[in-house]
Amino acid sequence: MDRPVTRDLSSELARWRSDTPGCAGLVHLNNAGAALMPRPVHEAILAHLSLEQELGGYEAADAQSQAIERAHAAVARLMEAEFRNIALVQNSTVAFAQAISAFDLGPGDIVLTSRADYASNQIMYLSLSRRRGVEIVRAPDALEGGVDPEAVRRLISRRRPALVALTWIPTNSGLVQPVEAVGRICREAEVPYLIDACQAVGQVPLNVDNLHCDYLSGTSRKFLRGPRGLGFLYVSDRALQSGAHPLLVDMHGADWTDADSFELRPDAGRFETWEFAYALVLGLGAAAEYALKVGVDTAGHRAYELADYARACLAALPGVRVLDRGPELCAIVTIAIAGRDTSDIKLLLRARGINTSSPHREDAVIDMDEKQTTSALRISPHYYNTREEIDTAVEAIREIVSDPSRR
Ligand SMILES: Cc1ncc(COP(=O)(O)O)c(C=O)c1O
Repeated sequence: MDRPVTRDLSSELARWRSDTPGCAGLVHLNNAGAALMPRPVHEAILAHLSLEQELGGYEAADAQSQAIERAHAAVARLMEAEFRNIALVQNSTVAFAQAISAFDLGPGDIVLTSRADYASNQIMYLSLSRRRGVEIVRAPDALEGGVDPEAVRRLISRRRPALVALTWIPTNSGLVQPVEAVGRICREAEVPYLIDACQAVGQVPLNVDNLHCDYLSGTSRKFLRGPRGLGFLYVSDRALQSGAHPLLVDMHGADWTDADSFELRPDAGRFETWEFAYALVLGLGAAAEYALKVGVDTAGHRAYELADYARACLAALPGVRVLDRGPELCAIVTIAIAGRDTSDIKLLLRARGINTSSPHREDAVIDMDEKQTTSALRISPHYYNTREEIDTAVEAIREIVSDPSRR
């Protein structure tokens, strides 16, 4: 992400914080887990639940059909995509799995991915290998970290994968993988390309055309600040026009036209299923509108700066090792603490009103083994956080780490 010239955001910051009631009592530095929802998101969800209570679930959805359409459109706008290319699904994992299931992968087919791909994605690849005989190839990293696009280019021309799948920002570190460069390579070679943008949406400006992807998965609850329990999938026109669809389509994705035939919807809705938590759809729409109003550029720039500040402060603490590496580092800061399991530290911080999280080896075996740690403390600020909150968290970590009775 380009870094624009810093401007004074104090009045915006005061508004963002007053829109976020949780800020009053918490230092919430777990936006990579689930961010604090701003007030309009919370209100949209509650209003629809009340309507369901008053009118009935189906009747409330009918009454709010236009608002539901606007919510869907806001998600599309956020990605600079068209309405017809966005499917709303239960979460990012489902979105990713729906996209993979559109490929009839079998013995001898290759899925080309990275060493840093998200744990659930890696498990899906391995499951495809176990059940379908698919070969999984992980492209090597560049020296500074993150997948090497030139290695991807060479592997594409040598091995001709059926699919390239890449996690933009893995969950367990600040690494930002070069998804745009890989996208250009996939497009030139006409190889389908799937991006997991789960941690990117809301902190990195996103334009699906620039990424040259066929599919892109995301979630509502992280840097986008929407509710838990909802995700989305971008499906390109290229994929739609080729007739791509998830392996198991339902009656929302297709019409059962005759005893032995079905007809697909023309749009990305073929990747959705019939039942929706409409309150959450409206909450997601409000989150997308809110992110557009703040500006993802502004949000990301500020979040990155807070993360840089946190990294610098934490690196100065005795016994603390900053784990993030890569040519670009985002708003996810990870540290290892000598001789300590970070789960305990996360809980001690939570008891002081400071939210962080603690990825373990199983969340990223390749990366964690390489960094020679079995756990990390993850600190993920967002634009509504402050430097003072980072100072509070760093000071608390310093105290906990240096307190011999806590060992
Ligand atoms: C990079 C990445 N991809 C995918 C996911 C899964 O998202 P969801 O829980 O919405 O399925 C996560 C969750 O942490 C993630 O960090």
